[in-house]
Amino acid sequence: MPIRSLHHVSFTVPDLEKTRQFAEDFGLLTVEKSDDHFVMQTGGGDAWCYQAHRGDRGFSGLGFLVESESDLEDAIKNHGASAIRKLETPGGGLAVTLTNPEGLKIDLVYGIDGDTPQEVHPELRLNTPASRTRFGEPQSTRPLGPASLYRLGHLGLFVKDYKTSAEWFEKTLGLKVSDSMHIPHNPDKTVVAFMRIDRGEHWVDHHAIFLAQSDKTDLHHISFEAQDFEAQARAHRWLLSKGWEPNWGIGRHPLGCHVFDVWFDPDRYRFETFTDTDLLNHDHETGHHDISKHEMDAWSSDPPEKYFE
Ligand SMILES: [Fe+2]
Repeated sequence: MPIRSLHHVSFTVPDLEKTRQFAEDFGLLTVEKSDDHFVMQTGGGDAWCYQAHRGDRGFSGLGFLVESESDLEDAIKNHGASAIRKLETPGGGLAVTLTNPEGLKIDLVYGIDGDTPQEVHPELRLNTPASRTRFGEPQSTRPLGPASLYRLGHLGLFVKDYKTSAEWFEKTLGLKVSDSMHIPHNPDKTVVAFMRIDRGEHWVDHHAIFLAQSDKTDLHHISFEAQDFEAQARAHRWLLSKGWEPNWGIGRHPLGCHVFDVWFDPDRYRFETFTDTDLLNHDHETGHHDISKHEMDAWSSDPPEKYFE
């Protein structure tokens, strides 16, 4: 299945307004709202990437953008997807829905009209000891406020059966394992995978999906690309000032190498900003690591608090 990118995530939430307020403070932009739902986008040109309907706390599913309408028909014929339907969300388009072995709903979407991207803040021109780039000029300043976000980049999933789930994402969606982790001293027992979208020679993020063996099936986190480190640091301070609860960060992952900053939304789902991710293509050789020997934060040896609840 030729997947182009991760497209969206869908939730049910008990307090729509509180969750939407958190998401706006985090940096997402409201494009549609009513008494029983809201739809949000990043400033990077997507029509939408995050939606919630009123209901009990829950993760309703995710969606990938495919290359052509015929990929939707292929998903019906070969993978048991639902019939093609028109999307009512901003930008229109078509969708089918797959159900994976753990009952998770995974949309495939096509033909959604994007929105106009927001203007990017001027790039920082840094003066480091080895490289001076700014002479006689102050650093450009950015307005205080939520982060400017550019796209939904990846998400993490707790799964009850790692092996079956990983095989499903590989065989049905063609995702590739960039790095995986196994239980201590037993390379045959894999429990974590970072999976990327397969676009052959073209460069893609180190992972679009992160799978972790658990006793439940649920979303672990969703992650949006911010402009740079400064944007993340400023967003961190902004979210603190608004009284939201940090989960982990700011730090840098050794696998994928992105700088991360993770926050709890009102229902304790994790929202992450990331920058400076590794890019891989078909030349990448899959890494397999012992989980007990692996630091998760290149900037600290402290284990992450409340990250795997
Ligand atoms: Fe992440």
